[in-house]
Amino acid sequence: MNVFPPGFLWGAATAAHQVEGDNLNSDLWVLEHVQPTLFAEPSLGACDHYHRYAEDIRLLARLGLNSYRFSIEWARIEPERNYFSLPALEHYRRMLAACRENGVTPMVTFHHFSSPRWFAALGGWERATAADFFVRYCERCAKHLGDLIDFAITFNEPNLPMLLRWLKYIDIPYTTVRQMTKQAARAAGSDRFGCFFLGDARKLEDIMIPTHRRARAVLKSGPGDYPVGVSVALQDEQAVGPRSQRDRKCTEVYEPWLAAAAESDFLGVQSYTRCRVGKNGDLGPEPGVERTQMGYEFWPEALEACVRYASSKAAVPIYITENGVSSADDSRRIEYIRRALTGVLGCLAEEIDVRGYIHWSLLDNFEWVMGYRPQFGLVAVDRESQQRSVKPSAHYLGEIARRNRIPDFLPAR
Ligand code: BGC
Repeated sequence: MNVFPPGFLWGAATAAHQVEGDNLNSDLWVLEHVQPTLFAEPSLGACDHYHRYAEDIRLLARLGLNSYRFSIEWARIEPERNYFSLPALEHYRRMLAACRENGVTPMVTFHHFSSPRWFAALGGWERATAADFFVRYCERCAKHLGDLIDFAITFNEPNLPMLLRWLKYIDIPYTTVRQMTKQAARAAGSDRFGCFFLGDARKLEDIMIPTHRRARAVLKSGPGDYPVGVSVALQDEQAVGPRSQRDRKCTEVYEPWLAAAAESDFLGVQSYTRCRVGKNGDLGPEPGVERTQMGYEFWPEALEACVRYASSKAAVPIYITENGVSSADDSRRIEYIRRALTGVLGCLAEEIDVRGYIHWSLLDNFEWVMGYRPQFGLVAVDRESQQRSVKPSAHYLGEIARRNRIPDFLPAR
């Protein structure tokens, strides 16, 4: 079978902090600007998507995609504690309206790693009061925007801090982290600075899972009537050797959030690579294998394995809410997409309920601590002129979306 089901969602994704630019009131802006910092460079004006969203959404639609996943930036909606910005809410209303005008289904993420700086200065996600703040922000957004929302995701990859505890190919410089956090706290006039990436994974999980439930209830209370889910960071975890810790890793990193997704309306699967796990944990890529700009292995088959695993734990509809590859060679992206989607067809053939594929990312953008070097975009961005250049992979994915099948040919380069 080479055909995707009718009504399949085909899209591309972004996250506010990575593309909007000048996210001045966010916790990450502070961390990017203190010394020392973990960030290779600051986000600054990013892709100026805050002002260019209409052009970008039009471009996405013209490519043939029918859905756009983007995030609402809490630091813009509530730049100071208890002050909710009507102009910012109106901005996201215009974005949602632009999606509709272009026949694009919007999928909205309420938290994609960044938070307001005041929230970090109070301790961030490690404090029990975090839930009340986040739920109140969701409530404001839902009241103002709900009638235009088609899908909502509470948290993007809330299990990432737990996953980071296992990853071997990232060597986290803890001294810099401590100094950076201390400087950020000082800059924010506090004795603490709780950023999502760097929080205590166990505490975060204890607070964020119940917060997801509460936020979902608020989002579902109207206006509008849309499915609410959570997106989970997944890797194709492969056991190596007889005493592999693979199963322990899966239980720790994935199961709590897959259980939370199982009580929700859908699960967002986000997958990029595989990971070999031995008796002492992650082994890292084998020598000589192809690696992406992120350092991990080029492994598009991960998507099929992740969808299969996730569907065995959460019997809810699945949307692939992120999948992609960072490469300067766009032909590798085409290959990645083709092989990843072939895997999705394999899942569909076994009646796994996959309903959409949203590629990461629409634009080359700010890849968090790695800055602008990794290129995940279907569309390149010249950060001086802000000019967009569509890559062949964008036409390839657009062609797949229009036909609802993987064509036999590759796009002309
Ligand atoms: C995140 C994105 C990120 C992407 C590529 C995911 O973990 O949700 O924000 O850019 O992976 O690294």
